[in-house]
Amino acid sequence: MCGIIGYIGDKQAQPILLNCLGRLEYRGYDSCGVAVSSSGIEVYKDAVRVEALGKALPQFSGTVGIGHTRWATHGGPSQVNAHPHLDCHGTIAVVHNGIINNFRELKRQLINEGHNFVSETDSEVIPHLIEKYYHGNLEEAVEAAVRDIEGSYAMIVLRAGESRLIAARKDCPLIVGIGDRENFIASDVPAILGYTNRVIYLEEGDIGVATPDGIKIRRDGIEVDREEHKILWSIEEAQKAGYEHFMLKEIHEQPKVIRDTLGEYTRVAEPVVDDLAVMRAVGIESMLMLACGTSYHAALIGKYVVEELLGIPVRAEIASEFNYYGQTLAGTAAIVITQSGETADTLRAIRRLKGVGCRVVAITNVVGSTASRIANQTIYTRAGPEISVAATKSFMAQLMVLYWLAMSYSKADSRRLASLLMGLRQLPSKVQQVLDDEDKILECAKFLSRYEDVFFIGRGINFPVALEGALKLKEISYIHAEGYASGELKHGPFALLGGDTPVIAIVARDNTYEAILTNIKEVKARGSPVMALAEEGDEAIGELADLVITVPRVDTVFSPVVNVVALQLLAYYTAKQRGCPIDFPRNLAKSVTVE
Ligand code: F6R
Repeated sequence: MCGIIGYIGDKQAQPILLNCLGRLEYRGYDSCGVAVSSSGIEVYKDAVRVEALGKALPQFSGTVGIGHTRWATHGGPSQVNAHPHLDCHGTIAVVHNGIINNFRELKRQLINEGHNFVSETDSEVIPHLIEKYYHGNLEEAVEAAVRDIEGSYAMIVLRAGESRLIAARKDCPLIVGIGDRENFIASDVPAILGYTNRVIYLEEGDIGVATPDGIKIRRDGIEVDREEHKILWSIEEAQKAGYEHFMLKEIHEQPKVIRDTLGEYTRVAEPVVDDLAVMRAVGIESMLMLACGTSYHAALIGKYVVEELLGIPVRAEIASEFNYYGQTLAGTAAIVITQSGETADTLRAIRRLKGVGCRVVAITNVVGSTASRIANQTIYTRAGPEISVAATKSFMAQLMVLYWLAMSYSKADSRRLASLLMGLRQLPSKVQQVLDDEDKILECAKFLSRYEDVFFIGRGINFPVALEGALKLKEISYIHAEGYASGELKHGPFALLGGDTPVIAIVARDNTYEAILTNIKEVKARGSPVMALAEEGDEAIGELADLVITVPRVDTVFSPVVNVVALQLLAYYTAKQRGCPIDFPRNLAKSVTVE
């Protein structure tokens, strides 16, 4: 996720661009830049926050310009990777939000045709493609360029000497702000609310041409009308896209996060992680997964998936424990999972593994983070910046990478793999189904919010989901919650059961089904209210549980995906019911940089 802005009007563009960029920083903040056009294009960009850029920026004169604030995906945060990007002659400047999945092929082709590239980004192919197709009409060149692009984009294009901006979008948001003798193009509303509240939302495939006097929008070459909206949100509300909290917005972004993360990996024929391929050739005998907190729960789910699909034993360990006690064996492939890439315990584990000669693959959401720099290899998740302290969409992206890794090296037969691939591709719509059923979850949250102690139980691949459900609930609602393997409750925790201690049971229709129904009966017999998370079509559960949240049916391997979204929503609405400060819970930080 990045933020983009374009201005064209009768005022100096530079201060307006900087102001708008400041409002877009919640979308990405590792680097930023602006380009202003008069007779030529002047560009200034760096790996700094917007405020610092504003102080260092020379005064550019011009009433048309573009700006960008970046959340790195391809290429770390650096001056050269920051946007805007230019074509070979420095006459076409582009800012881009999104991911170009086929950029490697396009870049190779453009280099063969004589184009020079300076950055590691996917975005830089755009100005070069436009340059290639430019024969006197910028709009036509942009139309031709986007036909070559596979992936997602919201872009604004500026050409030296032209008093217009061209905008195009696919799978990334883009709006037009209508002012008085001035117009804006932006990733979203908060960027421009200080100037105008009249907004047009560009639709998929739209190409917009903005001049100081108006905007013309075309789709498939035909001019179209788009409705104008009046925005009544405050800037803060707008940053959350109308959601009350960042956490709820981020939960709702998950179908897109799944598409973005998989989109990148499922189209490449070659294996994702060369190191694993090498180790596989010499024979990986075991795998070690290390992480903390929510990322550790992703590792636990990864353990089940890899053991099933690769047929090798996997150890999933808490990094802080491993640092003191864990043994490592040569020939072990190590995967370290950390959304921030800065968790001190996890970084120490990476250094320790490397110290004993292990090769380490890091899975992280932050390009250029310490984990990505010290690991032997990095696989990036594509969740975009996560503002809420409680991890939701970053966890989902970690799961997607783990699924894809396991499937890439799987020993399963081709029919099973084809069915898994189909299941994987259906996940965005399955998750959407859970999100659309929020009202039922809200009702369950009202019930749950009255209690102070809760158990979550699950079996097999849904045991880590029980741990994650309990972690989400405790961190944002302050209810004491424990995740348990459902067979373990009778070995002690039964002493705590009773009318004041509800139990939330995750019920998958796999080989654990009968056993978990028995566990639910045992819990009911001890007086605890039971809330079940069950698959659609499970009639039996309604007779056993006091409350049921239904999730869509998926292959058991993917059941954590739909179940965890329901539990995130349950935690969210319970915390809301109790009036908790959801995005920034007490005593917690987004990145834990101390051991
Ligand atoms: C919980 C949460 C934490 C993190 C943990 C590890 O919602 O966010 O438990 O998962 O601090 O952080 P990373 O993944 O950045 O290493």
